[in-house]
Parts: sequence; structure tokens; C-alpha cells
Amino acid sequence: MSTELNPYQARVSLLQPALAFAALAIFLIASTASAQQANPLSSDPRAARAGGVIFRAQCATCHGADAKGISSIDAPDLTMMWTQQGMTEGRVFTRIQAGVPGSIMPSHDFPDTEIWMLVSYLRSVAVSGSTGEFTGNSENGGRLFAAHCIECHRAGSEGGSLGPNLVRITQRRSQPALRNSVRDPNSSIGRGYKPVVLSTANAAAISGIIKGEDAFSIQILDSNQRLRSFAKSELLSSDRDVDSLMPVFLERQLSESQLDDILSFLHQQR
Ligand code: HEC
Ligand code: HEC
Repeated sequence: MSTELNPYQARVSLLQPALAFAALAIFLIASTASAQQANPLSSDPRAARAGGVIFRAQCATCHGADAKGISSIDAPDLTMMWTQQGMTEGRVFTRIQAGVPGSIMPSHDFPDTEIWMLVSYLRSVAVSGSTGEFTGNSENGGRLFAAHCIECHRAGSEGGSLGPNLVRITQRRSQPALRNSVRDPNSSIGRGYKPVVLSTANAAAISGIIKGEDAFSIQILDSNQRLRSFAKSELLSSDRDVDSLMPVFLERQLSESQLDDILSFLHQQR
């Protein structure tokens, strides 16, 4: 796209003004058409997962493994970009393919399908409220939530606190993002829920979520939901490159229709 258009743009400037105007109009129409291009993979739930794998290999060094950015690099939080005016999947496609000239955002000559997978992934981690209908059975969803989720999450007055409170979650996250959190939690670990595995002379592997840290100590909520503090001098190791404490729920453990029921239940907790 724009990569191919660059020499074309250069030629435009050499033409007669009237011709240049016509050429520019065609260029603008062509670029709007590509911006309106629809994602051919949007109905395939595997696309976002495959895109997440490509993202972590190719983009995470600048944008962070969860697409939320890294404090030391000035690359944007891509989970927020969809709220920009006029942001479309076609436009995101073009930015990935062409890069952003004048910045460190490189161009990518990946096959179109892989770029659409990246777009699907970025759509799945988008921060925006859910739109559309919740068609599941919320009563059954409440039962499933109590059986599978409540040990770590609250959605009302009771529940665990290892994971975030899910009250009003459907106002903050899209349906694909919520599905992705359940099917592939590692693709987007929320701020404030970074997992760590520590070991001391007395304990081999204490896994938990980092709740606070300074130069001398680290505080974690361990997987038994106990708040614990360790002096860094007593740690034999601290591994941060570990899986989310949110378990992966595959379809054989939680079917798509059961997940629909849970999402409908959550949508009612407002
Ligand atoms: C070397 C660092 C780097 C790498 C690698 C990188 N990006 Fe970027 N990306 C940036 C920076 C910096 C920007 C902001 C550019 C600007 O607007 O000034 C950006 C912008 C973007 C934007 C536009 C965001 C917006 O709000 O308009 C998208 C989409 C994007 N990157 C996706 C990706 C994807 C997908 C990959 C991997 C295939 C990737 N980037 C790899 C640094 C990087
Ligand atoms: C063993 C604890 C545990 C269980 C059980 C669990 N979760 Fe989680 N969940 C977490 C943790 C920890 C996080 C935060 C880290 C992350 O995002 O991966 C999380 C994150 C989430 C998020 C993302 C929230 C956000 O702010 O974006 C959703 C949605 C979610 N869980 C839904 C569920 C559902 C639905 C179930 C039951 C089917 C469930 N969880 C079961 C621990 C758990």
C-alpha cells in the first residue's frame, strides 16, 4: 500500500498541476478504499490467537507483550487506539504494513493474511466497552461463574481477589477481548496482575501477583491469596517470564455456549 505509493507520490509532484490534482484525487480515493477494507478473518476466532503469537514475536519489543506499551520505549498502548476517531481495521492494517514514517515504527512485508491476523489480535485486546447483544442464559452463567471463576474474581459482593473485580467489566472490555481473556489469558495480562515466581532458601516456587515493589522488597499476593512481603536479599530467584495466574479455559472445559452464559451473567452485574 503506502510503501508502493511512495514512488507514485514522488511522480505526482513532477506532473502538470491539473494532472497532479487528478492523480492526487485518485491517490486519495485509493487510500480511502484501503482504509475501508474489511478484515476477511474477522469471523474466525483462531485469527486473533494466531495474531497474538506473531505479535509477541515481532512487536512486543516495542509495544509490550500485552500491546499496552513499555515504559522505557515511546511506542503507543495499542489497546487504546481503537477509541481514536475514524480508526478502522483497514487503517490499522495500513499502519502495520507501511509503518509510520518518521518514527521507529517499521514497515512489515508480511503476507496480507498475517497482517489481518495481527489486526484481529489487536481488535481482541481493544479497550472499549462491549456493544451488541448478550444472548447467553445469565442464570446458568451465574452458576458457571460460581463453579469456575468466583474463587479468584468478584462479580458482586463475594469472591476472590487474585483476579480483577469483574463488576461492570462489559462496560470496559469488548466481547472479543473478554473471550480472549478466558481462552488465552497470556495474550493480555492486566496492569497490576503481573505474575512472578519467587524462590527462597525455605520455599522452592512461590507464585503470585506483584502488588508492590521497591529496591529492597517485593510484595505479592500468592496463589492462595495471601499478601506476602519478601526482602530482595532473601530471594534466590525471581522469574517474571511466567504464565498468567488466570487458567486457560479450553472449549472442552468451557464450551462457547457456556462462555456466552457467563458473559451474559457478567453483563447483568452492573
Ligand atoms: C522498533 C519499535 C516498534 C516495533 C518493532 C513495532 N512498532 Fe508499532 N509503533 C512503534 C511506534 C514508536 C509507534 C508510534 C508511531 C507514531 O505515531 O509516531 C507505533 C505505532 C503503531 C501503530 C499505530 C498506532 C496508532 O495509534 O495509530 C500500530 C497499529 C502498530 N504500531 C502496530 C505494530 C505491530 C502490529 C507491530 C509488529 C508487527 C509493530 N507495531 C512493531 C514502534 C514499533
Ligand atoms: C485461579 C484464579 C482464576 C480463576 C479460577 C479465573 N481467573 Fe480470570 N483472572 C485471574 C487473574 C490473576 C487475572 C489477571 C491476569 C490476566 O489478565 O491474565 C484474570 C483476568 C481475567 C479477565 C480479564 C479482566 C480484565 O480486566 O480485562 C477476565 C475477563 C477473566 N479473568 C474472566 C474469568 C472467568 C470468566 C473465569 C471463569 C470461567 C475466570 N476468569 C477464572 C485469575 C483467575
